[in-house]
Amino acid sequence: MGWERLLYEVRPTHIHHHYHPLCFGSSGGNMYHRKCCFVCSIALLPILFVLYGQVYHEAQNSESETHTVAIPGWSYNTSRDLRRYVLPDNVTAIIPQLDLCSSPELFLLVIVCSAVANFKARAAIRETWASAPSMTNSSSSIKVAFLLGDPDNSTLQELVEEESLQYSDIIQEGFVDSYNNLTLKSVMMLKWVTTNCHSVWYIMKTDDDMFVNINNLVSLLKVRNMSNLLVGALICGARPISDTQNKWYAPHYMYQGTLYPNYLSGTGYIMSRDVVLRLYHAALKTPLFHLEDVYLTGLCAHAAGIRPRHHPAFTYNKRKLDACLYKDKTVITSHRVNSSELRKVWSEMNSPQLDCSGFTATTALAAQKSGAKTGKQRVMSIKRSSKCF
Ligand SMILES: *[C@@H]1O[C@H](CO)[C@@H](O)[C@H](O)[C@H]1NC(C)=O
Ligand SMILES: *[C@@H]1O[C@H](CO)[C@@H](O)[C@H](O)[C@H]1NC(C)=O
Ligand SMILES: *[C@@H]1O[C@H](CO)[C@@H](O)[C@H](O)[C@H]1NC(C)=O
Ligand SMILES: *[C@@H]1O[C@H](CO)[C@@H](O)[C@H](O)[C@H]1NC(C)=O
Ligand SMILES: *[C@@H]1O[C@H](CO)[C@@H](O)[C@H](O)[C@H]1NC(C)=O
Ligand SMILES: *[C@@H]1O[C@H](CO)[C@@H](O)[C@H](O)[C@H]1NC(C)=O
Repeated sequence: MGWERLLYEVRPTHIHHHYHPLCFGSSGGNMYHRKCCFVCSIALLPILFVLYGQVYHEAQNSESETHTVAIPGWSYNTSRDLRRYVLPDNVTAIIPQLDLCSSPELFLLVIVCSAVANFKARAAIRETWASAPSMTNSSSSIKVAFLLGDPDNSTLQELVEEESLQYSDIIQEGFVDSYNNLTLKSVMMLKWVTTNCHSVWYIMKTDDDMFVNINNLVSLLKVRNMSNLLVGALICGARPISDTQNKWYAPHYMYQGTLYPNYLSGTGYIMSRDVVLRLYHAALKTPLFHLEDVYLTGLCAHAAGIRPRHHPAFTYNKRKLDACLYKDKTVITSHRVNSSELRKVWSEMNSPQLDCSGFTATTALAAQKSGAKTGKQRVMSIKRSSKCF
């Protein structure tokens, strides 16, 4: 504290200031005092520089130590060239599921990125928002598929193959499925669509802990015949997180900027087919970053000249489990809905007894905002989102 004060007070601009407090105090001073004080201050400067340098160096060192905690699987020396993992010129799919896109024109393909072991979450999605009644309600052709990686475990692999034979909705690509490989999963999604889906209009990327209102999504996409479309829950002004315990920790060697470009939450976003191709080609030239949403909808979109756009129907938060809200025209996604919650809210939504006459989405959303937030949610809302201008 003392040094800081001194440093401040001998800054050259202050030395020449008529009322410099170190030299004149409150009562001012004569010419002799002024000269002496000036000389003393100058003599002190080198000492202060040395001291300041040491303190500064120490601060830098402790900072670089915390920043070099590596991302498991993506240490400093690991190649981040996507071409090495995606092999754009080779077939990599373990289960290619070629029939998914064989219809002459597919309006929307929803790709749910799912962890191999999440059999229950996939079953709940099939029975709820991806179920046949929900699909046939719309006149457009819509399909839902699950994208998995390689479990590196023969027991799990056999179960996945059985599941695929039964439902024909599993795409399995050749990379090790793990949390830190989610970027590979998203780029494999782009590769699969680029090579196997030539007549699809829109692709939605979502996760297996999500609720998706397909009817509202189709209504949104039907409004205009859009290309150059990348839309979801926009996050602006987010910073890399240096806390190594945080789920979104990003060391300096992975990202050097102070801010991320604006990006869409990976929980749910829509792309037109032209955007899929442009993002795929950008990804093959952009060094991998482990947070898939920042990477694809931020870094690659920026490189490809595509602007991600916000739509309030998408959210990365958990919405209040209210069937009227999930049915409301203003909602497309809700995050962190587990299999039992999904089944419960879906059966309520489709119950003839459900009465939403007194319901307005704005009051439901206001009630949710005033409700208690968990610590995790708070970190999320502070660190991940700030106002978009
Ligand atoms: C990819 O395909 C090329 C030519 O078909 C082949 O020479 C190469 O070995 C393949 N690479 C891998 C990693 O399988
Ligand atoms: C089907 O559409 C009707 C009318 O738009 C709607 O009321 C109903 O909830 C929809 N059903 C499902 C299962 O989404
Ligand atoms: C493979 O997965 C099964 C089921 O999750 C698990 O019980 C088993 O321990 C795993 N095997 C290996 C070798 O990891
Ligand atoms: C990510 O995938 C690559 C390619 O399959 C694999 O070599 C690597 O071990 C995986 N990394 C992690 C962290 O699972
Ligand atoms: C979009 O417009 C093109 C012609 O500009 C037309 O061929 C196509 O059917 C339209 N697609 C949709 C989904 O409306
Ligand atoms: C789903 O979450 C609720 C709390 O939100 C919890 O009580 C329930 O046990 C969870 N169910 C499953 C299958 O994880």
